Amino acid sequence: MNYKDALQNKIFQIISKSAAELSLDSYVIGGFVRDYLLKRGDAKDIDIVAVGSGIELARQVAKNLPNKPKVQVFKTYGTAMLRYNDVEIEFVGARKESYNANSRNPIVENGTLQDDQNRRDFSINALALDLSETNFGDLLDPFNGIKDLDEKTIRTPLDPDITYSDDPLRMMRAIRFASQLGFTIEKESLDAIKRNNDRIKIITKERIVVELNKILESQTPSIGFLLLEKTGLLKHILPELTALKGIDEVEGQKHKDNFYHTLEVVDNISKHTNDVWLRWAALLHDIGKAPTKKFSKKVGWTFHAHEFEGSKMVYHLFKRLKMPLNEKMKYVQKLVFMSSRPIVLAQDIVTDSAVRRLVFDAGEYVEDLMTLCEADITTKNPRKFNKYHNNFKIVREKIIEVEAKDSVRNFQPPVSGEEIMKTFNLKPSREIGLIKEAIKEAILEGEIPNEHEAAYNLMLKKGKALGLKISN
Ligand code: CTP
Repeated sequence: MNYKDALQNKIFQIISKSAAELSLDSYVIGGFVRDYLLKRGDAKDIDIVAVGSGIELARQVAKNLPNKPKVQVFKTYGTAMLRYNDVEIEFVGARKESYNANSRNPIVENGTLQDDQNRRDFSINALALDLSETNFGDLLDPFNGIKDLDEKTIRTPLDPDITYSDDPLRMMRAIRFASQLGFTIEKESLDAIKRNNDRIKIITKERIVVELNKILESQTPSIGFLLLEKTGLLKHILPELTALKGIDEVEGQKHKDNFYHTLEVVDNISKHTNDVWLRWAALLHDIGKAPTKKFSKKVGWTFHAHEFEGSKMVYHLFKRLKMPLNEKMKYVQKLVFMSSRPIVLAQDIVTDSAVRRLVFDAGEYVEDLMTLCEADITTKNPRKFNKYHNNFKIVREKIIEVEAKDSVRNFQPPVSGEEIMKTFNLKPSREIGLIKEAIKEAILEGEIPNEHEAAYNLMLKKGKALGLKISN
């Protein structure tokens, strides 16, 4: 089979010519070929294998390019990278690899194309196109990768125990591809992941998180998380989630399985947002339920203050996984912390003051919080489902109304501490806080509008009640 059409980007001609100048063979391999055949759109990465030195080939290509791009060399890995337009092109010499048991850094030996293909992760990622001038575009598919693409199968080129123990990150990659592409992991491979799951411990957290993010970004993330759970990987990576599994029953009273509920919420939210952080918030919104779960005869199952507990756990989880401890983490924490607020509203009559308080507390995250809470409605009772959704619709309308009227989203006190001090000739003191709090409360309750004059009058009234004298 020939796929010249896949190689229309001028860079392939230049690589071909450069390889001929060095008298070596070169191939495009991996994700570029796979995604071309799956019609997944333009690739941002191109992987080139040289039968010989990848670094030398990269340098030759750079020489032949009009803008002479810089070649980045990674000596330890024997690879080199250059950028052409928007695309990153990675060059590697074909290798016959054996891996060191305690790390994923390979001991590299030069090899043939076939050796190199043997050591790749999946048949669908071992597909290569010849870049030589005589066979330009010819497909080399030693493991029936084309058939696996057609049948939507993830299969390793070698015995899966070898492929996965060579590089345990591949266990997560298999699951990530299954989730991203809607593929099935072939049984022997799945069994091998189950057998080798504890080897994931030698993989750096950063690389694990890259795969977790890709699973979360897929159309139906539950596919990936169910596989992570089923293979035993999840308990090594996110034990907070596996702790949510199971239904307890005491005296005939049960609670829902919060693990499967969580996955439903993540799938639901993924229909409404591509923001990976909002998806993280959905994934973690109930993690506080495992440590706070209690049963009492009077009230049955409770998860008291699980939102607070959960938001604290978010920090520890991000830290453990070496994820950013920045405003993204704070965003996830805040959404987890507030995740039950709108549903409490929606169970009752939606009042203006309750909505004003919600907007005040959630600030700029209020719409995302609503999206999370709508996704959280997984009840199978159609009457409740409709009631909650209708009430959330009212909440969303009221958010707009209340905001137009009172702008409490980024609340700035209409009377400042300084003005209070000046009015009553006060030094910094407790009274100032009391007056400010009274003004804020009156605005949130809708007793006064969020305006200076009304707030000023309330300040005078409150000051008087506190026995303060107006200064002259
Ligand atoms: N590869 C591998 N084992 C790994 C990582 C990568 O065998 N642990 C090989 C595969 O042949 C893969 C190629 O290296 O296709 C490039 O890897 P990478 O760029 O990480 O992934 P892609 O397959 O290109 O997919 P994506 O861009 O979606 O990450």
